[in-house]
Amino acid sequence: MSEPFAAVDVIRTKRDGGTLSDGQIDWVVDAYTRGAVADEQMSALAMAILLRGMTGAEIARWTAAMIASGERLDLSAVPRPTVDKHSTGGVGDKITLPLTPLVAACGGAVPQLSGRGLGHTGGTLDKLETIPGFRVALSNDEFIAQLRDVGAAICAAGEGLAPADRKLYALRDVTGTVEAIPLIASSIMSKKIAEGTGALVLDVKVGSGAFMKSLDDARVLARTMVELGGAHGVTTVALLTEMSTPLGRAVGNAVEVEESVEVLAGGGPADIVELTLALAREMLACAGLSDVDPSVALSDGRAMDSWRAMVRAQGGDPDAALAQAPEREEVRADGDGYVAAVDAYAIGVAAWRLGAGRARKEDPVSAAAGVILHRRPGDEVRAGDVLYELRADDPARIAGALDAVQGAVTIAAHAPAPTPLILDRVAQTRRAKAKPRARKSTRATKA
Ligand code: URA
Repeated sequence: MSEPFAAVDVIRTKRDGGTLSDGQIDWVVDAYTRGAVADEQMSALAMAILLRGMTGAEIARWTAAMIASGERLDLSAVPRPTVDKHSTGGVGDKITLPLTPLVAACGGAVPQLSGRGLGHTGGTLDKLETIPGFRVALSNDEFIAQLRDVGAAICAAGEGLAPADRKLYALRDVTGTVEAIPLIASSIMSKKIAEGTGALVLDVKVGSGAFMKSLDDARVLARTMVELGGAHGVTTVALLTEMSTPLGRAVGNAVEVEESVEVLAGGGPADIVELTLALAREMLACAGLSDVDPSVALSDGRAMDSWRAMVRAQGGDPDAALAQAPEREEVRADGDGYVAAVDAYAIGVAAWRLGAGRARKEDPVSAAAGVILHRRPGDEVRAGDVLYELRADDPARIAGALDAVQGAVTIAAHAPAPTPLILDRVAQTRRAKAKPRARKSTRATKA
């Protein structure tokens, strides 16, 4: 079949700072998905996009082409308003686990297609698979039936959803082009739009444990994604939230499920409860349910009932004991003072080295491994107090994790000023809702 464009011309256009035409974008995304554009050509184009950026119109077209590479789910059989949440990824970020059943308990339906962890950030599917029997692979029919009957489903995206992104993301991962804001925005939004949700709340993480290290970059990413959602008829709001400190006290897989269940039982760490409720309020507002107070559903047990129903519907046993790590190493404070900082990136790398994360997609993960923080920023400590605990199945993993956490906890003479968890909020503008505005070129910045 003769091709309407040559990949090298598309690459040259972007390399020289030009704007890709709609035809070029539609063709290159489709041709790459079917193998007519080679990996090395797409790598060069991804690098040109990282260095040169894209206009708002180019990002919108690129996202539409990624959606068109696969199926778009039809959730019209679900009788409740559908609303999803996506986090750009962090350390100890287990919010999806309590949030999904909470929003379902408040009358929404949450079609949550999640991923696995890669690198220092955890993956929701890895956490859920620590529950004996829990199945993350659902057919489209099972997914829709569960949303209809339970209102909450958390599972892996099927092969048919945005296959262009699956291929391109794997390529970006090995070519140093993950950090391009136009490519991150189109990757996330193509999957979320294709899953068929009516509304979406984004949790864009900022800080050492996040992709976006600066608030300015996070704002650009949030604004780009919110506009993309609006252009595709998905009501979209973003919260920018702090990710220099891990969320909660548990970082790992089963340990994060345990902490999530504490939150659903009405307890749990204050930051997890605060963020879960803030995101639930945004989701309920987007779904037209702003008169429902999610804190009531959390304290009266309805969110827990909804969690148990979701776990059972996916074959899991909500009462089963979770795996416990046999190897434990406590790290203690060597002086008195206050915890001034706990570095999210270092703790994430330690959890990963303990076995909670994977280096390659096909690697297995440990259910029980992870880090438990005994002290968080603002806590007073005395010499000899346990700061955190490392857990592993294999004692040989402890040394590498100890290396990673060297200097992760800073102790100061005075308590640090409290920092807000929610840094900013980005919502659709009237103009963005009606028609996406042609944006100034969105330059990528290195994370
Ligand atoms: N998550 C995604 O799904 N895609 C990206 O590009 C980055 C994070």
